[in-house]
Amino acid sequence: MSTQTHNANVTLTTLFKIKERGEKFVCMTAYDACFASILGDAGVEVILVGDSLGMVLQGHDSTLPVTMDDMIYHMQCVKRGNKGALLVADLPFMSYASETQTLENAAALMRAGAHMVKLEGGAWIENTTRLLAERGIPVCAHMGLTPQSVNRIGGFHVQGRDTGQADGIIAEAKLLEDAGASTLLLECVPRSLGKTVTDSLNIPVIGIGAGPDTTGQIMVLHDVLGVSVISPKFVKNFLLDSKNGIPGAIEDYVQAVKSQSFPADEHCFN
Ligand code: KIV
Repeated sequence: MSTQTHNANVTLTTLFKIKERGEKFVCMTAYDACFASILGDAGVEVILVGDSLGMVLQGHDSTLPVTMDDMIYHMQCVKRGNKGALLVADLPFMSYASETQTLENAAALMRAGAHMVKLEGGAWIENTTRLLAERGIPVCAHMGLTPQSVNRIGGFHVQGRDTGQADGIIAEAKLLEDAGASTLLLECVPRSLGKTVTDSLNIPVIGIGAGPDTTGQIMVLHDVLGVSVISPKFVKNFLLDSKNGIPGAIEDYVQAVKSQSFPADEHCFN
C-alpha cells in the first residue's frame, strides 16, 4: 500500500467538509515526533496528545497523575514531527478547575503547538467551553466515559446504557455545542447512543467505543499496535495482520476507518 502525506494542513474546516460529504476522518494519539510523522504519512487527520500518556507511557493506573508540564513536553515533541494533522491536546486532571487556570493552561498548550484543547465533562464544563471558545481556543468536549472521573464513576465502564443516562448525555452534548464546542469526543457508549448524539449535533463527533456512526474515529496508538496492558472490547490490534510493520498497521487502521470496516460489530457495545 502506498503511503500518503498531507499536502495541506488539516483544519476544523476540513473536518466539517468531511462531515458534510458523509465521510469519516481518522484520529489517533501520539506522544512524540517520530510517531507524529508516521501518522502523518499514513493519512491520520487528527493527532491527539492525550493524557492517556499517563497510562501508556508513564505506567500509572489512571490519567490523574498527568501534569501540565507532561502535556506541554509531549505536545512540543509531536509538533516537531507533525506533517499537517490537526493537533489536539488534553487539559489534564484539575488543570481547568478555575477560570484563571483554564485560560493559562489552555494558552500554554496552544503556544506549545496545539490547535485545539480537549476537556472532559458534561454540563459542568459549559461555562469553561464558552470561556475558551470566545477567546479563540477551539474546544473538543469529551463525554461518555471520562477517565479523569474514574474514581467518581467507579471504574472504566460503558456509559449511557439506561435511557435516563443516555438522554442526559444527548442533552448535555447539545448544551456544549451551543456553548461553542467545536467537536465532541464520545467514549464507551452503546452504538445507538453514538448514532443519536452524532445525528443530533452539527459539530463533528469523534468516537472511541461509540460505534461506527460517529463522524470520526479515534484510537490510542498503543492499542492499534497491540502493546497496551489492557485491551477493551472496542480495541483492534492492527499490527497483527500488517504487511509493513508499524507504518502498515497505522495505514490499515486509516483505511479501515475510511472504508467503514472498523469499528465492526465485535467492537461495539449494544
Ligand atoms: O487521552 C486520550 O488518549 C483520550 C482517548 C482515550 C480518546 O482521551
